[in-house]
Amino acid sequence: MSSTTDASAGRAQIAERTLRTDRWWFPPLRDAILLVLWVAYATVRAFQQDWYFTADQNYNYLTPFYSPCFSVGCVPEASHFGQFLPDWWFLPYAAITLPFLLLFRLTCYYYRKAYYRAFWLSPPACAVAEPHRTYTGETRFPLIAQNLHRYFFYAAVIISVINTYDVVVAFINKDGSFGLGLGNLILLANVILLWAYTISCHSCRNIVAGRLNHFSKHPLRYKAWTFVSKLNARHMELAWTTLASLAITDFYIMAVSAGWISDLRIVG
Ligand code: FES
Repeated sequence: MSSTTDASAGRAQIAERTLRTDRWWFPPLRDAILLVLWVAYATVRAFQQDWYFTADQNYNYLTPFYSPCFSVGCVPEASHFGQFLPDWWFLPYAAITLPFLLLFRLTCYYYRKAYYRAFWLSPPACAVAEPHRTYTGETRFPLIAQNLHRYFFYAAVIISVINTYDVVVAFINKDGSFGLGLGNLILLANVILLWAYTISCHSCRNIVAGRLNHFSKHPLRYKAWTFVSKLNARHMELAWTTLASLAITDFYIMAVSAGWISDLRIVG
């Protein structure tokens, strides 16, 4: 074994793949399993075109996976912003927004770390050599496109506003009365978490107060930056929590819509 401080000599020549003795392989394996399970569930649901809205009940629960419901195949009450997409089996009802949400998460700084480690082993963990011979980082196509993340952030903000609108609408029953049920609380918790994840984005932190030389001259932006920075420290937790909250919200609405369970009503 030899070591050097000469950068031109490349990496230290260590025969072992790693000197770590802990279970370094567990986080990438766990992340790979969880991400595959979530993507499989979301794909099935996005293409199912059923059980996405409480059509037979008096309340208006719309799963985030189908919002905004732009297809002519959508239940009319579930389409808050019009219907103009053709009803094809291979076209998700929310086909306009789902790609942006996918790209927002795919280019997220945290998820990049997670899936680079879990699927590309690049590297699988700190201080564990990767199996690849060359490393170009994100300097070439297609990974250079990860820099578009900041633009997908703006799309995610618009979609979060739409999700918030859905939550508000869900408090109004089809007969016009106020309603409150367990579904409302789940939808509300989900949208709060979605906002927290979106605002905790590294791009958001930069947009709020990046490139400022004097925080003292921008007190409001400094306050916003402090708030975003606190959330940003929790970005990884929020990334996973929102995957869970999205799946739980969707599953609950599917179960109520399909008639497997009844919504626990508190008012109305
Ligand atoms: Fe994760 Fe922007 S860095 S959403």
